[in-house]
Amino acid sequence: MKTLVNAHMESKVDLSGIEKNQTYDYKIINKLDQKYGSSFYLLNVNKLRENYKKIENAFRSRYENFIIGYSYKTNYIPFLCKELSRLGAYAEVVSRIEYDLAIKLGEDPTRIIFNGPLKSQNDINYALNNESIINLDSIYEVDFVKDYAMKNQNKLIKIGLRVNFDISQNGESSLQEGYKVSRFGICVENGNWEYVLNTLQEIKNIKIVGLHGHFSTKNRCVESYRTITKKLCALARENISDSLEYIDVGGGIYGEIPKSFNMNTPTFEDYAEAICGIMNNEFEGFEKKPSLILEPGMAMVANTFVFIAKVIETKTVRDEKFVLVDGSVHNVKPTMHKKNLPMRIIRENKDIKTRERFNIVGYTCMEKDYLAHEIIAELPQKDDYIIFENVGAYTIVFNPPFIKERPGIIATDNNEFFVIRKKETIRQFFNEEIYCF
Ligand SMILES: Cc1ncc(COP(=O)(O)O)c(C=O)c1O
Repeated sequence: MKTLVNAHMESKVDLSGIEKNQTYDYKIINKLDQKYGSSFYLLNVNKLRENYKKIENAFRSRYENFIIGYSYKTNYIPFLCKELSRLGAYAEVVSRIEYDLAIKLGEDPTRIIFNGPLKSQNDINYALNNESIINLDSIYEVDFVKDYAMKNQNKLIKIGLRVNFDISQNGESSLQEGYKVSRFGICVENGNWEYVLNTLQEIKNIKIVGLHGHFSTKNRCVESYRTITKKLCALARENISDSLEYIDVGGGIYGEIPKSFNMNTPTFEDYAEAICGIMNNEFEGFEKKPSLILEPGMAMVANTFVFIAKVIETKTVRDEKFVLVDGSVHNVKPTMHKKNLPMRIIRENKDIKTRERFNIVGYTCMEKDYLAHEIIAELPQKDDYIIFENVGAYTIVFNPPFIKERPGIIATDNNEFFVIRKKETIRQFFNEEIYCF
C-alpha cells in the first residue's frame, strides 16, 4: 500500500515556467483547474502549522502540561489530521468512524480522545482495550464500562466523564441558539452525577481520571471558559482528586477572524490567560498537576482552506446580475447563512473598471443557492475565478454530494501544490459496493 506521502508526491502539479510565489496568481489557478477541475478546495499547510503553534504557545507558556486534542469532526481530511498529529495533536473523535480513521492514520490509541453522545458497547470495549481516553456522555455508557470491568477484573480501567452544569451568565443562556440547557454530558444538578460517581467508584478496577466540559456557546467569550474551568476544577478536587489526570475544557474558542467580519474576538492569549490562570491556582501545590486538554476545531482550521470556483457565465435577469460559478453554497457555507465570506476575484482580464452589484450563485437547482449576496465590485467575467476564504471548518465534512460529485482538495506547502483528495468520479458517487443497481 502507498503511504500518504508517496501518494501526494506523485500528484504534484507541474508549475514549471510559472512564477510560484503568488498563490493566487491566475496562471497557477488555471493550471490547477486544468488538472483538477474548475472548482476545488485549497489547503494552506503552513497556515495550519501556524495556527497549531500559536494555540500551543499561548497555552503551554502558561501551563506546561497542556494537550491539544484536534476535533476531527471539524474537518477530517486524512492529510490534515495526519499533519496535526505530526505537530503533536491528539485526535478528538466523536464516532467510531472517526476513531477508526485515527487508527488508520497510525495514531497511537492512547492519544485518541473518544467523546460524543453515541458509543456502542463494542466501541467502548474497543477503546478501553486500546487504552484510549474516553469521556462518557450519558448513563447508558456507564453500564457498558461496568460490564467491561466485570469481565476484565485484572485490568485497571481509566474513564473520564463529560459533565453538564449551568454556565449561564447573569441569568442569560450562553449556549448556541439560546438553548437553556445543553443536552450533552452528565447533569451535575439533578443527581445523575452522584449516581454515576457512586456507581463507578464502587467498582475497584475503575478509576475516574478526568472531567470534560465542552459547551458550544454563542459568543465564545472568555467568561464562559472561566465558569467552565472553575466548575470542572471544583468537581475534580471535591470528588476525584486522588485519581485525577486531566481537565478537558473542550473546544469552541475563536480562531483568527477575517478583518472584514469586523468582530472584536478574544485572542488565543486571552483564552489561555483565563483558563491556565485558573488551572494554576486550583492545582497550586499539587505534586503532579493534571493535564489541561483543549479541543479546538474551528480555531485550528477555519482559515486554512479556500474554495476556488470558476465563473461559468454572468447573466442579467431584469436588472439583477447573477454570476454563475462551478460551485454551490454547500461548498462554502452549508448552513446557508446570509453573511458573505471574505472573497477575492482572480481575473483573467484586468481591464474591467466599472463597478456593479451582483450575486454569486451555484449549480444546484435551488433558488437559494447563493454563494454570496449583493457584492459591489467589477463584474466577474467568464473564466475568472472566485476564491471564497475561511471555509475550513464544518464545510467539507458537511458537503452533501448533491447533484454533482464532490470537488478535489489540493494542498499548498512551500510553493508546491499536491492533491489530498481527488475529485469524485461517477463510480464513487454511485458506489456499486453500497448502491443496488
Ligand atoms: C466535544 C467537542 N469538542 C470540540 C469541539 C470543537 O468545537 P469548535 O469547532 O467550536 O472549536 C466540539 C464542537 O462541537 C465538540 O462537541
